[in-house]
Amino acid sequence: MSTMNYSDKIPNNVNLSEDRTLQRALEQWQPNYINWWNDMGPDHSHNFDVYLRTAVSVDPSGWAQFDHVKMPDYRWGIFLNQAEQDRKINFGDHKGEDVWQDVPGEYRANLRRIIVTQGDTEPASVEQQRHLGLTAPSQYDLRNLFQVNVEEGRHLWAMVYLLHKYFGRDGREEGEALLERRSGQEDNPRILQAFNEETPDWLSFFMFTYFTDRDGKFQLCALAESSFDPLARTTKFMLTEEAHHMFVGESGVSRIILRTCQMMNELKTDDPVKLRAAGVIDLPTLQRYLNFHFSVTIDLFGADESSNAATFYSTGLKGRYEENKRQDDHSLKNDSYKVLNASNGHLVEKEVPMLNALNEVLRDDYIKDSVGGIERWNKVIEKAGIAFRLKVPHKAFNRNIGALSGIKFSPQGQIISDNEWLAKKNDWLPTIEDRLYVASLMGRVVEPGKFANWIAPPMIGINRQVVDFEYIRFN
Ligand SMILES: [Fe+2]
Ligand SMILES: [Fe+2]
Repeated sequence: MSTMNYSDKIPNNVNLSEDRTLQRALEQWQPNYINWWNDMGPDHSHNFDVYLRTAVSVDPSGWAQFDHVKMPDYRWGIFLNQAEQDRKINFGDHKGEDVWQDVPGEYRANLRRIIVTQGDTEPASVEQQRHLGLTAPSQYDLRNLFQVNVEEGRHLWAMVYLLHKYFGRDGREEGEALLERRSGQEDNPRILQAFNEETPDWLSFFMFTYFTDRDGKFQLCALAESSFDPLARTTKFMLTEEAHHMFVGESGVSRIILRTCQMMNELKTDDPVKLRAAGVIDLPTLQRYLNFHFSVTIDLFGADESSNAATFYSTGLKGRYEENKRQDDHSLKNDSYKVLNASNGHLVEKEVPMLNALNEVLRDDYIKDSVGGIERWNKVIEKAGIAFRLKVPHKAFNRNIGALSGIKFSPQGQIISDNEWLAKKNDWLPTIEDRLYVASLMGRVVEPGKFANWIAPPMIGINRQVVDFEYIRFN
């Protein structure tokens, strides 16, 4: 089961040829997907031979194979982690029962909604990133962008498989709708707001893959606990692909920082004006981009108090991050959690039933995880002997969802007036000038081994290739 069948029209490890109805339905969806890719996938890239990894096994040791392929010919397919024998439900009201191989009727609507919401983010990010290839800072980076894009495409396949196999006609309709919505389009936008924002430049792309793909990691980890076993198995395999996306983000920002610090030391200055004249991205601008992407992404976890979150947990649809490592009763009916509220000009902690606070629990786990990479970025600055440090803003900063939305906070978490916000906002979030400056740096660098001035080369190439390997043949 762990080897993948690539001789079928749709590569898979789920014995697709034994289920003719499903196979036919997916084969009908396939050309629509390819049309979507041709319309909305990376701009002007269809003829390139790209050094991509393709999954050949779900076995963690050696699951991938690398080769030059044209992206429209990428073998998108359906890959689930192997079933765990006698897997039991490990949280909620059904704890201890066997996991479900089919969708229980009473949970059908909620499960469908969860799968559609996850599925919608996958093509959305490809749409958000579709113009970036035209301004890649190097072949190495262009290849990484395309790798992320084809894998987000595969994640859409993963969710559409579940919809087709387990949700009948409704599922097939949802599969079509996933190809019809468009990121940022007014009359038919993507479901979640962060996926309707633009990713206009490579700094945004690296911040997005660091912060927003990490939201993906946490959502997938919570779904990997699901009592609906096919969902758990498919999200587990998606997680192995997701790790590369976050690597692209973390290493991308890290290389920008390294280049900026080299220039700061060379010119002996921290003056943004001088650094911009030298063509690098000053650290305060990086901090503003970080503030933006962090705050937009933590909104994705939803309202701090949510009865839906409680229902999804109690009914066994969506667990917590690392559910099994937690030492509690995994029913949480008698537990509480502290969420933040604003009262009389101050932030106060409010104790609420844990079940209703599970969005906040996941958000807090996410925040802990994302701080790690920022500390590694700070090590680069420290090593260069520069005193500046990047910081995550307070979780109340710039929120648009939950109890803290509608109130203005500084990045340190103080409540401020609307006037103070207006006076300081340009210090905290990317300004139009910042965005124009970053945009002015974006130019296409595609000679093997060459890098744009504003970013340092990576230490090593992809799949142990040299950095100046020909990752893309433009034809
Ligand atoms: Fe994804
Ligand atoms: Fe991703």
